[in-house]
Amino acid sequence: MNRSLIVAANWKMNGNLTLIKEMTTALSVVSLSQDTRVIICPSFPYLAAFSHAQEVKQLDARISLGCQNVSEHENGAYTGEVSTDMLQELNVDYVIIGHSERRSLYKETSTLVAHKVKRALDAGLSPILCIGESEQERETQQTEVVLASQLQPVIDEIGIEKFKEVVIAYEPVWAIGTGKTASPELAQETHQYIRQFIANIDQQIAEKISILYGGSVNATNCQQLFSQSDIDGGLIGGASLKVDEFTKICSAV
Ligand code: 13P
Repeated sequence: MNRSLIVAANWKMNGNLTLIKEMTTALSVVSLSQDTRVIICPSFPYLAAFSHAQEVKQLDARISLGCQNVSEHENGAYTGEVSTDMLQELNVDYVIIGHSERRSLYKETSTLVAHKVKRALDAGLSPILCIGESEQERETQQTEVVLASQLQPVIDEIGIEKFKEVVIAYEPVWAIGTGKTASPELAQETHQYIRQFIANIDQQIAEKISILYGGSVNATNCQQLFSQSDIDGGLIGGASLKVDEFTKICSAV
């Protein structure tokens, strides 16, 4: 089966050139297990600096650059948007799509998210597709319906064959930035549901796809979460801005 373990840092609208310097220096000496992949997703203005530091410091090939959003359009008159071509020129390999903050604050629908996933894949970028339920949806037993409604439009748009190139990040909205991590058991149960949802369409693809957990992951709770059979790593927010803590999470997997 051998799915890669992925630790991805989502810096959100945080970080600066100093953090790029400190993080790349720390990552140049971090010890990673063979199957581990690390992805750093800073804001757009810092992609070039990270890419440059990556080259100068000769970072391990298992450390990649990602970003936090992409336009669904190829190019053209879309003020403020960033295209896949631009990202590729900066050696970006991954793109976070459909983060709950984009869904709730910027009204990104699952249809738009599906178009963005398609655009990314067509351009050769790997999408990190974020899905997750709100607190109210969990309390009213809507979790599975919500997750299915976020996954299905993407599968419909790109087809299940292409879907195997997608990394899924399950991020319960109530656990993001709240310090309220899902228990390892609850996270595992939900990851299992997600994998089963895909297995109902294609068993082999379901076995291969990496499903990351996100929501208040830190150096203390990561090991227990990552040791669950359907959790293949994490998408880390707050803790990814602290160099020591983040490198501990990278080494812990
Ligand atoms: P926190 O780790 O700060 O809860 O954020 C999670 C997240 O939203 C990562 O995308």
